[in-house]
Amino acid sequence: MDGREGSSLLARMQGELSDLQMRAQLRTLECHSGVNLSSNDYLGLATDPRLKAAFLAALQPNCQMGSTGSRLLSGNSRDWEQVEEEFAEFAGTSHAIYFSSGYAANIGLLSSLLGPADWVFSDSLNHASIIDGIRLSGARKVIYRHRDLNELEDALALRDNEPGCKMIVTESVFSMDGDRAPLGELLLLGGKYGAELIVDEAHATGVHGPQGRGLAAEAGIVDNVLALVHTCGKALASMGAFVCSGSTVKQFLINRARTFIFSTAMPPYFAYQISAALRIAASADLERCSLTEVAESLRALLREAGFNTGTSSSQIIPVMLGDNEVALYFAAELRRNGFAVRAIRPPTVSPGTSRLRLSLTTKITREQVNELVGVMTAAREKLAPAPYA
Ligand SMILES: Cc1ncc(COP(=O)(O)O)c(C=O)c1O
Repeated sequence: MDGREGSSLLARMQGELSDLQMRAQLRTLECHSGVNLSSNDYLGLATDPRLKAAFLAALQPNCQMGSTGSRLLSGNSRDWEQVEEEFAEFAGTSHAIYFSSGYAANIGLLSSLLGPADWVFSDSLNHASIIDGIRLSGARKVIYRHRDLNELEDALALRDNEPGCKMIVTESVFSMDGDRAPLGELLLLGGKYGAELIVDEAHATGVHGPQGRGLAAEAGIVDNVLALVHTCGKALASMGAFVCSGSTVKQFLINRARTFIFSTAMPPYFAYQISAALRIAASADLERCSLTEVAESLRALLREAGFNTGTSSSQIIPVMLGDNEVALYFAAELRRNGFAVRAIRPPTVSPGTSRLRLSLTTKITREQVNELVGVMTAAREKLAPAPYA
């Protein structure tokens, strides 16, 4: 099919791919082996026998394998309603609604709540699903510098008398930098200028806050935010996401969120996996503690060795390298030594900020962390002159 002569569309695609290759930005699919440092399975639940057992128990002979339709048609079931209730209780909200991915949740939430007459204030490092949801809403947007409260306040003040609803959107733990949003301060600014707050807890769900309820719970502000997005594909080793909110937002999403309305529901047995994962994660205080300790130790070792770990204060630790080729080199050296690490390059991150993203899970040992820093240091010594940032 790729051999079709004279197709300008294929020629354009091939040109773009060559261009990406030349800029060391071409992505390929690979199956990695080795010590997994690219994983979002922060609590190690992906291989947890308790989760497998819960899933297998859900597969009773009479269980239904397909949901048969969207939730608004034939796909709703008591299993999904029940897990939504459980999740709302976990998140500390009165309601929750499940979407089949975090991407679909952010797109559905933002594109339905906001419209062209509204204003949205979005952190410059927010995830692509937030960016795309905002784009789709047509709302007027202000992208404020990452975690910069002064810039955000100036932007809010400037639009204080503008008509339209206002919303601040942020991740709680940022996916590529591993740092945290100043949620309490964002809420105060929102209150001062009449803007609602939405928090994407994807990398905090199960990992941060009391019983892993996220950073909004840790800050004690759940009652004051408009909605929280908790994803299930990371620490919960499942799939999908819950938008946790009050009843109005839930009702509105059921009626307006196109990624909810026009998409087949997940099969009912999958609700059991999420429910089991939630229970395991909520009780994993020891695992959360040891994950935090290993992350602190890795950050300290990398910094002592002269690497730049940015503003990370979580289980996600970037090693800032700047150049695409240098990031690819370090990733390859680590892979050669048995560590599965990916180089993160534009457009995932801004040009000139290519990096390794080390994401720690409870499976990583202190010995592996020491070895990793040793490999990084040796890899740097092979580079002459050292071009790392
Ligand atoms: C902050 C954030 N929000 C949303 C998503 C999307 O979640 P999902 O992978 O479930 O689509 C991701 C995925 O990486 C993420 O990092």
